[in-house]
Amino acid sequence: TLTWQPTLPPSDLEQYGVAQAVVGGTKIALYAVDGEYFATADLCTHGAASLADGYLDGELIECPLHQGTFNVKTGAAVGAPCTIAVKTFPVKLEDGLLHVGME
Ligand code: FES
Repeated sequence: TLTWQPTLPPSDLEQYGVAQAVVGGTKIALYAVDGEYFATADLCTHGAASLADGYLDGELIECPLHQGTFNVKTGAAVGAPCTIAVKTFPVKLEDGLLHVGME
């Protein structure tokens, strides 16, 4: 079953559109795209890089290490050298905090 875990206030995403949160020992990257919120695993599927340190361009996050890209809405790997999708998590805003739904 899905458990909703509180993370950050949406204001934490204002500057870069992306921020990291640690939920139950798992690092998550949270994103703001056109007033909607999304979350993926923070670890790039290509190597040891934090997607929260990457560059968000629209709905694409560019990994800071080799500039591969993922769609933050679907987790799909869309730009080389990334080929493996990153896990996504549902996000909802409640009581002023973004909550991430985790198994
Ligand atoms: Fe992310 Fe290589 S570690 S693209």
